[in-house]
Amino acid sequence: MTPSTEPGHGAGHPFEDWALDPAVRHLNHGSYGAVPRAALAAQQALRTEMDAGPDPWFRGLPERVAHARTRLARYLRTPPEDLALVANASAGVSAVLGSITLPPDSEVLLTDHAYGAVVWAVERAARRAGARVRTVHVPLSATAEEITARVGAALAAGPVSLLVVDQITSATARVFPVADLVEAAHSAGARVLVDGAHGPGMLADPLAHAGAADYWVGNLHKWPCTPRGTGALVARGPLAQELYPVVDSWGAPEPFPQRFDHQGTADLTAWLAAPEALEFIERRYGWDAARARMTRLADEAQRTLAAALGRTGDLAALAACAAPAMRLVPLPAGLAADQEAAHALQCRVSARTGCDVACTTWRGRGFLRLSAHLYNDPADYAHLAELLPACLAECRAGTETTAHAHAPGAQAADAAHGDAHAHAPGAHVDAQD
Ligand SMILES: Cc1ncc(COP(=O)(O)O)c(C=O)c1O
Repeated sequence: MTPSTEPGHGAGHPFEDWALDPAVRHLNHGSYGAVPRAALAAQQALRTEMDAGPDPWFRGLPERVAHARTRLARYLRTPPEDLALVANASAGVSAVLGSITLPPDSEVLLTDHAYGAVVWAVERAARRAGARVRTVHVPLSATAEEITARVGAALAAGPVSLLVVDQITSATARVFPVADLVEAAHSAGARVLVDGAHGPGMLADPLAHAGAADYWVGNLHKWPCTPRGTGALVARGPLAQELYPVVDSWGAPEPFPQRFDHQGTADLTAWLAAPEALEFIERRYGWDAARARMTRLADEAQRTLAAALGRTGDLAALAACAAPAMRLVPLPAGLAADQEAAHALQCRVSARTGCDVACTTWRGRGFLRLSAHLYNDPADYAHLAELLPACLAECRAGTETTAHAHAPGAQAADAAHGDAHAHAPGAHVDAQD
């Protein structure tokens, strides 16, 4: 297939339903989502109403939030009395960590795939409580059984009070066998907080997938495409009643989840318009069909980019537990070896190829993380595949030149990374694991 140089989506293409810039190919849905025009219009109408009459708007807001919450709970197939709305997954994690008591000298267990900001939140909560944080290594190529065995062994090794685990990991795009991990943690006497930031939309029933998790947080503004700032926190029974929102407001005397319906003076139009995004996609595409299309596209995207970068041989090792709509392709050794380098590379790739795509880093290795949503099509990935190899070659040459010519300190650091890479990502994804 010859890639087109312009995105050029014809009339009737799903792209038309989103408000994305048509001059850019959007291959990074996983980071910030994208909102359909129908939901943006609904949100704008709500904002207009809010600005026309702030008094009646804020008087009636908790009731409207409760109604939206019920519609969002239906999408997540969970009772509305178990679901609180939060601004995002980060706020949900902070609400849990700020509400529960970690016993001093106990441990919080993480995996080395945890989202960086969540790790920081856990570390701060542990410091406050006098608890410790332990991190278990999960190889990139691990099967569901291997992940459960590793986490199970780590649970057995210490007095873990809380396991914090991703449903779908961010940098590495893995689906973890969360229900089994919850069972293992409960047998070891630990509670579980599931970071389901990427679960909704990608998984048909993310809460069933999370089993008997004590706390689950997820984003609706990622894969379900709601306006941004729409997250959910799910908990049940007495555990739920321990939870308070990050913002103390007039809902404080109310039970969970109603106490989360009050957020001080805040623009909550995203929450109220969120059901419109879910219902629009159901009406126009059907969520099951949407998921199937996203998975097919992601398969093709991964194959196309792996072929372009000469990494087809790595795909088998990445197959177990791959996320349905987010896929990795290893980058050449030495690129995106840390967070800062990954960010710089992502900016460079975007500027040179016209494609917004994520570059992630994990254990000193760089990856291209491809997302696929309804508005994407195979030509998007073919276009990236045509331009990326030259772009990466330039970046590598630039990195080497900079290290050798200008920065003796950086050169030493690079050499250390180079050493690590010599044993790791070059030929086989599995090698380092
Ligand atoms: C696994 C994971 N957890 C948490 C977050 C935080 O989400 P938010 O920025 O919406 O709070 C993200 C964001 O990408 C994520 O990927």
